[in-house]
Amino acid sequence: MTMNAPSYSIPGSTPVAKAAASAPEPADAAASATAQARSVGEVLEGSQVEAVLAELDADLVGLVPVKARIRDIAALLVIDKLRINLGLTSQAPSLHMCFSGNPGTGKTTVALRMAQILHRLGYVRKGHLVSVTRDDLVGQYIGHTAPKTKEVLQRAMGGVLFIDEAYYLYRPENERDYGQEAIEILLQVMENQRKDLVVILAGYHDRMETFFQSNPGMRSRVAHHLDFPDYSVPELLHISSKTLAQQNYRFGPGALEAFEQYLGLRIAQPQFANARSVRNALDRARLRQASRLFADRERVLTADDLSTIEASDILASRLFSSGTT
Ligand SMILES: Nc1ncnc2c1ncn2[C@@H]1O[C@H](COP(=O)(O)OP(=O)(O)O)[C@@H](O)[C@H]1O
Ligand SMILES: [Mg+2]
Repeated sequence: MTMNAPSYSIPGSTPVAKAAASAPEPADAAASATAQARSVGEVLEGSQVEAVLAELDADLVGLVPVKARIRDIAALLVIDKLRINLGLTSQAPSLHMCFSGNPGTGKTTVALRMAQILHRLGYVRKGHLVSVTRDDLVGQYIGHTAPKTKEVLQRAMGGVLFIDEAYYLYRPENERDYGQEAIEILLQVMENQRKDLVVILAGYHDRMETFFQSNPGMRSRVAHHLDFPDYSVPELLHISSKTLAQQNYRFGPGALEAFEQYLGLRIAQPQFANARSVRNALDRARLRQASRLFADRERVLTADDLSTIEASDILASRLFSSGTT
């Protein structure tokens, strides 16, 4: 690829080729707060990025390797900021990422936090996340794909474009597949407009790997690969208590143990989706709690009654009788 103006240039954004000629300009207030910084402490103070890292740590259970990688990336960006301030670099770093892991392992949740971190450090202007799948990018008919992909890129400019199950863009079994056109546009924009857009590709680990094998151009533009492991049962239980607490509910006597039993059965089922399955199971438990309380018209219900998920609300799941959720 040459340094000429990109053939796919999204309006309202600064192509890298142009920005590289002069010193990089602070994208916005977040960046200007750190423009004079000479120490790590000053960048952290100016950007408030530590608050996001601390929230990430506190809000998300487990994910130890992911959290460590995010700290590494944040450190890299902070040092890069100091290098920019001293004129040691003017290149926008490549920040495109791949989040691989099974469903419900926290990829979307972490991507939102990543967008915040990038924004606070001034690497993206707005810090919003646009989440899409193949259908949002690829058209059904000839000529429909480029406008669709460009419209999505336009919306994502200044933030993070999260492409879920990104491998569906590539369908080798169909040689005329329009997905290829979307990939080519993405590749150009990922290269030429990386100062204004970060792309995160997400999906199952194996399928992402196969996708990168067939699309080396995509692999070469993705700088950071983060693996999201499945949660352990203790982590899933921790997530369940935390989720309930956020909704002002809690487990009554024996309910946590019942939920642990439930998880043991649920994990063995097809379509188990980690923290998402926990969330859905708790939604159903709240429905059963409501039906249980609803049945007694005369009873005065205390705050305690209204916030307690009883063991029976869990054990009434069909998983215990028929083997389905
Ligand atoms: N580590 C975690 N701690 C607490 N809740 C989590 C955690 N990981 C995921 N969740 C919750 O599980 C649900 C699914 O997570 P999500 O980020 O959508 O997973 P993915 O994108 O990998 O499918 C969300 O409601 C999220 O809040
Ligand atoms: Mg997701």
